Amino acid sequence: MIIQSERISLKHLLTVEALTDQEVMGLIRRGQEFKQGAKWTPQKSQYFATNLFFENSTRTHKSFDVAEKKLGLEVIEFEASTSSVSKGETLYDTVLTMSALGVDVAVIRHGDENYYEDLIQSKTIQCSIINGGDGSGQHPTQCLLDLMTIYEEFGHFDGLKVAIVGDITHSRVAKSNMQMLKRLGAQVFFSGPEEWYDNEFEVYGHYLPLDELLDQVDVMMMLRVQHERHDGKESFSKESYHQEHGLTVERAKKMQKHAIIMHPAPVNRDVELADSLVEGLQSRIVQQMSNGVFVRMAILEAVLNGKA
Ligand code: CP
Repeated sequence: MIIQSERISLKHLLTVEALTDQEVMGLIRRGQEFKQGAKWTPQKSQYFATNLFFENSTRTHKSFDVAEKKLGLEVIEFEASTSSVSKGETLYDTVLTMSALGVDVAVIRHGDENYYEDLIQSKTIQCSIINGGDGSGQHPTQCLLDLMTIYEEFGHFDGLKVAIVGDITHSRVAKSNMQMLKRLGAQVFFSGPEEWYDNEFEVYGHYLPLDELLDQVDVMMMLRVQHERHDGKESFSKESYHQEHGLTVERAKKMQKHAIIMHPAPVNRDVELADSLVEGLQSRIVQQMSNGVFVRMAILEAVLNGKA
């Protein structure tokens, strides 16, 4: 029997800081319930959602599509390239229009950090905003699916040793995860190229060479090298990055048997981790993608509860 977890109600989901620990755990548990087949009981007969992606995406965009359809929402298609964005329409005016059309919730990915500030301060825009990634800022829905995957594996966060490895400075996934993992009691470590690390992260964890972390951690969270945010100033070839900072087959052999490998994907195979590890026994990368649908159902439900 599925016992429904406590009802969560959110106006928007923009950052992980805005969530209480209780809300985070409630969304994870609700994601697990959806995975087991729980159903949503809507308050109205019809809800409209739209996915406004101004940066490319496979997982976030398509898993929101699936989550919305599983919940029975009407999904309003939007492609920036064929919309009036090409005529100079601003993000504000796109969202204002969607709101005026009766859209209840807009999932937005945009290249500007904190793009949502003007939208949530507007007195006219009524639709809720779910942040699908803001520049190098945050990726709260990826954070929640990562947490769900870790919780499924270990049943808790307290004292878990989690390494976040790679292009940390440019990664919104890393920024959301380091904050929330620390808050939930995990011990966070960082590794990767020192030029992609910033001392501001020290409040959440400590930097160590990857080889010192291999046999210590419970979770090895590898990050994608964010070529699109480097302005062509890269000092590594694919091979040299893999050998110096990647999870090679040899390095993976030194990990504890119970430890898991994660990556938000898309993976640059044989760069951040060896091709053969991506679908290997210790990898949870496919599970992360599947869990994305269920935790996003929980997030959409919470936001639509907030409108009831
Ligand atoms: N992990 C993630 O955000 O992937 P996409 O860019 O494909 O959505």
